[in-house]
Amino acid sequence: MGSFHCPIGAATRGTVGCVSCGLCIATTRQGQIEAANRMRAHIRSRTTGPVGSIRKIAVCGKGGVGKSTLVAMLAHALVYDGYRVMVVDTDESNPSLHRLLGIHPEPEPLSMMLERFAPDGNPAPKEWLGQDAITLDSIPEQYIYWAGNLAIMCVGKIEDPLAGCACPMGSLSRELMMNLDPGEGDIVLVDLEAGIESFGRGMEQGADTVLVVTEPSLDSVLLSAKIRYMAEGLGIQRIRAILNKTRDPRTERRIRDMLIEHEVRYIGTMPHGEDVADASLEGTVPLEGASVENVRWLTGLLLDEAEMDHPITLHAVLEA
Ligand SMILES: Nc1ncnc2c1ncn2[C@@H]1O[C@H](COP(=O)(O)OP(=O)(O)O)[C@@H](O)[C@H]1O
Ligand SMILES: [Mg+2]
Repeated sequence: MGSFHCPIGAATRGTVGCVSCGLCIATTRQGQIEAANRMRAHIRSRTTGPVGSIRKIAVCGKGGVGKSTLVAMLAHALVYDGYRVMVVDTDESNPSLHRLLGIHPEPEPLSMMLERFAPDGNPAPKEWLGQDAITLDSIPEQYIYWAGNLAIMCVGKIEDPLAGCACPMGSLSRELMMNLDPGEGDIVLVDLEAGIESFGRGMEQGADTVLVVTEPSLDSVLLSAKIRYMAEGLGIQRIRAILNKTRDPRTERRIRDMLIEHEVRYIGTMPHGEDVADASLEGTVPLEGASVENVRWLTGLLLDEAEMDHPITLHAVLEA
């Protein structure tokens, strides 16, 4: 029985918890589709409760649509609104998320717990990751760096040629996502690698909210629709699209219509902002100008939908 495709991890527990979906033994395309449908039905049947508060947000979408930018801006906006926010960088390639957050230095990557990525070949202990409820305060301090109420964790980067694929890091991300248990007033924001491979690995399964960042391109809209389908299959109920980088109202309306047509629920728009592009070039925090107000507004909408507090309202921000 192969363990990679087992969405509920039964294969690594000697089949304990196996729901006999048949995904691990399906050999034909049709067989895989039928098995995946059985697994989707199983996961959805276990997630019929109320949508509940936002605790863990996975930010997804096509490459370059603005996932990391949005994560950084949302993180700052949520901290401003009184939340404690931890950002998890699961992207094995791009190096700049901590700069967008204004956090230096970075903590040690979780990949230190993997033999292949530990500098001296001696992996750090990883038992803590298997605990059922990892609170933000119980994360070993070398893996988390706090700057006030904002913290960052990094899963790791591929640094060398022939270092091998990133699947082991993906497993760490998945385990962390599943077992993290943010407390009242804590929000975890996970910056994912581009595309949908992470959904194939089930990395988002522990999230209660998926934000799909969409840019004005057909590919981005189609991928957003696919992400909606994948996230539903993982039992996630709150899936929302944020439209980014629009330059005019006509394009914004068009993409909104396309998202509706593909049954992706749109929540709001972040227009193209020169200040955001400049910050990306300088490697600084994109926290100047109109973009900040836009993202505070988006944060408010998101918290409203989840019926959560945002004690400092947009009006208070604009009037300050
Ligand atoms: N609203 C925006 N206005 C202008 N530039 C943006 C905006 N959002 C993202 N960008 C730029 O797009 C590029 C890709 O953004 P990034 O956040 O790295 O995307 P991703 O994480 O999805 O790959 C960056 O140069 C970033 O500054
Ligand atoms: Mg990114």
